[in-house]
Amino acid sequence: MTAPIKPPVGDELLAEIDRLRKERNAVILAHYYQTPDIQDLADYVGDSLQLSQMAAETDADVIAFCGVKFMADTAKILSPEKIVVLPDMDAGCSLEDSCPPEKFRKFREAHPDHIALTYINCSTEVKALSDIIVTSSSAEMILQQIPPEQKIIFGPDRHLGGYLSRKFNREMLLWPGVCIVHEAFSETELMKLKEQYPGAPIAAHPECPPSIIDHADYVGSTSGILQFAKTFPGDTLIVATEPHIIHQMEKALPEKNFIGAPGADGNCSCNICPYMALNTLEKLYVALRDLEPRIEIEEELRVKAKRSLDAMLAMASGTIGKGDLGKV
Ligand code: 13P
Ligand code: SF4
Repeated sequence: MTAPIKPPVGDELLAEIDRLRKERNAVILAHYYQTPDIQDLADYVGDSLQLSQMAAETDADVIAFCGVKFMADTAKILSPEKIVVLPDMDAGCSLEDSCPPEKFRKFREAHPDHIALTYINCSTEVKALSDIIVTSSSAEMILQQIPPEQKIIFGPDRHLGGYLSRKFNREMLLWPGVCIVHEAFSETELMKLKEQYPGAPIAAHPECPPSIIDHADYVGSTSGILQFAKTFPGDTLIVATEPHIIHQMEKALPEKNFIGAPGADGNCSCNICPYMALNTLEKLYVALRDLEPRIEIEEELRVKAKRSLDAMLAMASGTIGKGDLGKV
């Protein structure tokens, strides 16, 4: 048995990733929750909506997706002719895990007069069982396009669903899933931090529970929070989402102070997404070198799932970069 070829290290690793990216005609897409080294070498860094729009539009032959599996699946659903690689196939998502397709199918069948408005953080099978997909930056504008009398099932994130429901005074049947990362923020520790920085606003992702959202000055997607960080008038911002996004804030505004909201032990490391953290530069290099691990989706399933994604892209067209959720 021949030993696997080891990735190079340091500058040579960066140079090799660059060489392979050109050789493969690959585009490297990265989510804001990836580590700074990955964000810095990606061709595009963005939120879920922006990255799916990029995946649908790119003319690259290979998409190297530095994010979690549902995001790479989305890229493959939208661009089936491309090779889509994910550096670590175990990069899942607690929201996806909370919503097994068979249970979701039964839930839908029990409510035949409801449409399924579904957060993109779900499996391809659940997308195929849904009517319209939303991301945190498109949810608000899409919900507003659905007639008020139309009954809605919203899954799998009960906090995003609850936030939308409260903001628009619109009843929805909520699937009981949560993001383990945003669920870990502590209201008590957040209040202690507020005492330390009394003038600092709080920007929160809508995956946070209401106990955190209720204290937020701004609520929005990762791109929305980043936009808020670039425009808020003060000098310190408390950020209640996965802390790797702070890298982009510090790059854009090095003179300002960005503080990650704390978890229950007062230490925000419990708010690092353990799934996103599985991707590394070494694994990205191997993925570009071997074109593995590769996303494969059975064609009938892909076509079904694409309908609900296309519905989102059509209803959200023109939103790229806006990150448009606001405060309740
Ligand atoms: P965004 O669409 O806001 O980037 O969120 C993705 C996500 O997984 C948040 O946990
Ligand atoms: Fe899933 Fe939460 Fe990680 Fe986002 S932060 S990928 S919702 S587990």
